[in-house]
Amino acid sequence: RALLRRLWKGDASARMLHPRLQKAMGAYLRANKHGVRFRGRRASGRSRTELLCALRGRVQVRTLDGTEPPFSALGWRALVPPVPLSRLLPRRLRTCAVVTSAGAILNSSLGEEIDSHDAVLRFNSAPTRGYEKDVGNKTTVRIINSQILTNPSYHFMDSALYKDVILVAWDPAPYSANLNLWYKKPDYNLFTPYVQHRQRNPNQPFYILHPKFIWQLWDIIQENTKEKIQPNPPSSGFIGESLAPVNVLMVLGERRVIATPFYGASSHLWSFSSSVLSRLAALRHRWLLKCILLMMNLCGEVHVYEYVPSVRQTDLCHYHEPYHDAACTLGAYHPLLYEKLLVQRLNVGTHGDLHRKGKVVLPGLQAVRC
Ligand code: C5P
Repeated sequence: RALLRRLWKGDASARMLHPRLQKAMGAYLRANKHGVRFRGRRASGRSRTELLCALRGRVQVRTLDGTEPPFSALGWRALVPPVPLSRLLPRRLRTCAVVTSAGAILNSSLGEEIDSHDAVLRFNSAPTRGYEKDVGNKTTVRIINSQILTNPSYHFMDSALYKDVILVAWDPAPYSANLNLWYKKPDYNLFTPYVQHRQRNPNQPFYILHPKFIWQLWDIIQENTKEKIQPNPPSSGFIGESLAPVNVLMVLGERRVIATPFYGASSHLWSFSSSVLSRLAALRHRWLLKCILLMMNLCGEVHVYEYVPSVRQTDLCHYHEPYHDAACTLGAYHPLLYEKLLVQRLNVGTHGDLHRKGKVVLPGLQAVRC
């Protein structure tokens, strides 16, 4: 509870964690598995605006586009979706929701509020079925780590969780972001299933995050934290939150259709009404007529649920699994505590929403004056 209050105030420290977690953090610091060499300077007193400007100015949302070796020689230019995640610029999105998988979201009754957002981001294998009351049932993007693609228990190729949504995958590459090294030795080999999935589902938008983006986020966290943070990539949650303000997606109408047939078309197509888009889609890809997802480049506001925990804070790791471990919320491998402190500093929402809903509101980056 004391730690939770300090987290809400934004001044918690790793020294307040359970000794077991502190020990695990120390081991990760010593191991430095990804060869992190932080060259920046720590500047802990930055204001909210300064932080947002650092995020906007320095962190570039990038996905593999097939132009760099070794992917260029492997024909990835033709394999990746034709339009990059960050270049789709249709209309403005009002608000987006980022729903973490924390156990604390159980009994929150947040489902209706979550579904009222224009776009909803979820993580890994977190289901909605059976949990609609607390987590809602709309999913626009799913951010998945490389284990989801490689561990057969997730049934990545056939599970409905990974269909009709925009997929964004990532894997912890070396800090140097040397793509050749990473390709030879990924944490989990996500490349093979990615290729297979692209070939089988060419119309589903599916991207792999560029390691530079992931480590730029890490640099920002370390720069703005007094303590030494774990030299491991930020958690999916932080990655998702950082993705949302700049690249977000919108669900048009009740029936959503993946709009990939138009990705290559000129941008004025984006201003067509949803019914026109669906009719056009029907002409080309009848079977796709289940949903339309439009990538957006701007989210007015991002509402993040149960990332900075509410009063329901619990050691239950995920809302959908009977597994307890405080590390899921406070971090061992990921610098989760520090991510949360940073996000808390960016929060423009109310204390009441933070305590009761576990909700943090992040301003859209476009609205910030730098
Ligand atoms: O565990 P998993 O990575 O699938 O969860 C998705 C994200 O939700 C995490 O990366 C983390 O940012 C957030 N999370 C959390 N507290 C938990 C579980 C997940 O903050 N107890």
